[in-house]
Amino acid sequence: MGHAHRLARDPLGFLVEARSGDAVAGVRIGKRSVLLVNDAEAAHQVLVSSVFDKGGPFMETARVLVGNGIITCSNADHRRQQPMMRPAFRREQVARFAPVMSACVEEALALWRPGGRLDVEERMYALAAQVVARTLIAAPAGRQAADAMATALPVLLEGMFRRMLIPVPLLHRLPLPANRRFDHARAELERSVRQVITQYRQGQAPGGDLLSLVMTSTDEAGLPLGDTEVRDQIMSVLAAGVETTASLLAWTLHALADHPAVEAELWAELDRELGGRAPCHTDVPRLSYTRRVLTEVLRLWPPTWMLSRVALEQTTVAGHTVPAGADVIVSPYALHRDPAVFPDPGRLDPDRWLPGQVTAAQRQAFTAFGGGRRTCLGEHYGMTEAVLALAAISSRWQLRKPPGARLRPLPRFLLTPQAGPLITVRRTPSQDARRHRPEETR
Ligand code: HEM
Repeated sequence: MGHAHRLARDPLGFLVEARSGDAVAGVRIGKRSVLLVNDAEAAHQVLVSSVFDKGGPFMETARVLVGNGIITCSNADHRRQQPMMRPAFRREQVARFAPVMSACVEEALALWRPGGRLDVEERMYALAAQVVARTLIAAPAGRQAADAMATALPVLLEGMFRRMLIPVPLLHRLPLPANRRFDHARAELERSVRQVITQYRQGQAPGGDLLSLVMTSTDEAGLPLGDTEVRDQIMSVLAAGVETTASLLAWTLHALADHPAVEAELWAELDRELGGRAPCHTDVPRLSYTRRVLTEVLRLWPPTWMLSRVALEQTTVAGHTVPAGADVIVSPYALHRDPAVFPDPGRLDPDRWLPGQVTAAQRQAFTAFGGGRRTCLGEHYGMTEAVLALAAISSRWQLRKPPGARLRPLPRFLLTPQAGPLITVRRTPSQDARRHRPEETR
């Protein structure tokens, strides 16, 4: 199994340790030999160079779920797919989605009660699933699809992680309970996605939602996407857009519970800019501290903690020969914790991202959204959603850690927080958030 055991037991420790060695290090996962790129400049080269394509253990496993969609397709297919997907993620389009995002946030917050114990991961996941489902599919079927997704995605992501770590296909076909759960979740999600595509083809597309935009876009030859291609794109957006933002928000709420000074600074901005009203899309550019908090959380706990590529031909990275066909891994988690680039890397310091402070080396090392031609298409969408959600939550609620609670990263297909519930305390916006103490209602 090579390094698979160590990678399975403590993957983050393993990656950080590997970073302190060579710029490029070889590891073994099962029969595969994988190159870890540990240096920001070399990582940048891998992400921007056309010699490296999507591939490697992460991508091959992801294809089980998302087929040949935009996340997993080769660069050659990407040249056709990306221009067809891009319009749905433009800034003006995200501005149209923002009221849907805000409505989902308000609906979610309406269920919160003071003194309650909140499973933050679960709530943020449910919120992000609603946002993606309703912006993707505005038709009533969107609600059903959202429910199908909320149930299926965690099972699928867990199953994909297992498939990546233990790349023995036969094992994953055995009638074991975990395999049955995976197959069932995949079939259910597949069924609801196919149903929605059929309805849209039959003229029930409401227009203006992500799916309508994707289904009406055409390539250079004037051809639209076929049903299987549309299915792959829906699966891709679900896989890329739900747990990433959910994890970012969950990490942020846990981090704020641990860092009162950052929380106070955030309240000061929210109280000054919003004065207690719900945030809307036009507030987003002014909520600069809110955005810096989110960016810093992405640095410390990037949901996509590993990016995988394959070398199409023999090449050189940081003086090391990379043979054709080699699997290459870039870890944003490890790059973001390099003390040579981010001094005191374990410290949560949103002001690292102040325009005058951030260095070119830090920008290059920051790979939470990937890099090069395959950079996250949903970055603006995801950050808008996260700013709106965090601003709405922290304006009105403080989340406190119960005594003795421990926060640990859970590296699976994505990096999610593993912690107990947080306690909800209602807060009233104040003119001076620094002196303000929220009132514990129960
Ligand atoms: C904070 C939230 C998010 C993070 C941290 C994130 C991170 C990433 C990363 C690292 C990649 C590149 C993967 C690679 O190079 O292998 C990526 C790609 C992608 N993401 Fe995101 N993402 C987020 C939110 C979203 C959202 C909300 C959506 C859609 C609703 C989305 C859609 C996509 C798509 C379509 C791609 C493929 C881009 C391409 O290859 O052209 N992402 N994301």
